[in-house]
Amino acid sequence: MTGRYQVARRAAQVVGAATPLILGYWRDERRFFFFGGARPVTEATHAERARRIRAEIERLGVGFIKVGQVVSTRGDLLPRPYLEQLRQLQDNLTPLTFDAVQAALEATYGCPLADVFEDFEPSPLATASIGQVHRARYAGQPVVVKLIRPGIQRQLAVDFRIVTALLRFLDEQLVRFRQENSDVHVLTRLFSQIVTEVNAGLREEMDFVFERANAERLGVLLADNPLVVVPKVIGELCRPNILVLEYRPGIKISDGGALRAAGFEPLRLVEQLVEVYLEMILVHGVYHADPHPGNIAVDERGRIILYDFGIVRTLSARIREGLLKMTLDGLRGDIPAIVDELYRMGVVDPAADRAIALRVGEKFRELYLRDMLTAERIEAVGRYMRDAFGYVPLRMPKEMVYVFRVVSMLEGLGTCFKPGWNIMADAAPAVQRGIRKMMLANETIKWPEFIARWIGQWLRTLFTRPA
Ligand SMILES: Nc1ncnc2c1ncn2[C@@H]1O[C@H](COP(=O)(O)OP(=O)(O)O)[C@@H](O)[C@H]1O
Ligand SMILES: [Mg+2]
Repeated sequence: MTGRYQVARRAAQVVGAATPLILGYWRDERRFFFFGGARPVTEATHAERARRIRAEIERLGVGFIKVGQVVSTRGDLLPRPYLEQLRQLQDNLTPLTFDAVQAALEATYGCPLADVFEDFEPSPLATASIGQVHRARYAGQPVVVKLIRPGIQRQLAVDFRIVTALLRFLDEQLVRFRQENSDVHVLTRLFSQIVTEVNAGLREEMDFVFERANAERLGVLLADNPLVVVPKVIGELCRPNILVLEYRPGIKISDGGALRAAGFEPLRLVEQLVEVYLEMILVHGVYHADPHPGNIAVDERGRIILYDFGIVRTLSARIREGLLKMTLDGLRGDIPAIVDELYRMGVVDPAADRAIALRVGEKFRELYLRDMLTAERIEAVGRYMRDAFGYVPLRMPKEMVYVFRVVSMLEGLGTCFKPGWNIMADAAPAVQRGIRKMMLANETIKWPEFIARWIGQWLRTLFTRPA
């Protein structure tokens, strides 16, 4: 099949899936229809359409699924029925047969499988969108072998070209119809950002050179942390499409029953996980950016095991410092300081009115203290923000996309065990512990300033503590 034909066929598939949905949306909004009444859209219509969107996305494959999963964590972007469906997105690829796995491994190593591994488990330990994991034995040691599906790189490159072209086209049409500042345009811009970021991430994920380097890097950075385990890389067996790691089994962090049976309190483990994340994000500025339950387990000694270093992000000192400031401000409940920091970090549109931003911030705090699902909370803030400003004045610096994702994934984990669980209210002790540790460890942050603030806060709590 020639490249161009493949692209054209795929493009037809994507456009075919997207067009009815886009037209439906425009029609509801009456943006491009000059006659006919408003179309009343019932909850049921939305739910039905959301279901259809999810089915289409799953049919279109891994690139679309990943984008959908990221979008689903951004409660500010879409109404609830859509978020709910997007959150359920699953990759349901059929596993590679053992013959295909064997062929791919032997082609890469250039020798029979039995010459490399003493033992190789034919049925996979896990299958996923981009690869497959098998247990094996090497040099007397149990290992796992992760293999990238042959041909998937090309598919994703094609999809990215098609989707960016489609978004560019939509963008041009919106400008042409003078919809530069409409909600739809804000959405297409945010979508473009997310698509670009997800694509860059996927390209890294599909190159185990990165994943190996990430695993090794975090392994070194977290070596002294007794709360966490990073499986060791078996370097001599790694190739761009094959990753071999020591086998480190554990209990899945979302498996409350099994954790309790092993004598662990799940919420304590989630807090421990938050502490590990704080260290990665604020101290090292290098973090595992994919904390979904499948990538996190707990070993027999209660240590967190991190799997899957396909998405590891770094943060500049500037952003790291901003996040640390916000964390401290958050612990203190200082909303104006957080809002100012968000402006400084470029998360809030500089043209947005600060007084309104403060009101939104207060609303956020109020909602944060309420027992509600994280997604509902984010959605409520999103709605409030849209009402207050007339648009969503958020600009997401590239570096922050995954930070938001991580926070919402961690909170998602917490809510498995306690409804409404959130980091600031429920994991505050872990956050404080983490910050204290950082104060001892980090040189890139101007500590005198922070210590002064810290003392200021302490004095304030001392003098304002209710009797
Ligand atoms: N070093 C390991 N030891 C034990 N199990 C592992 C190891 N690495 C991965 N796994 C298991 O395989 C699953 C898939 O691995 P992961 O690295 O997350 O691949 P993917 O990128 O396809 O999600 C994990 O959820 C975990 O259950
Ligand atoms: Mg994984």
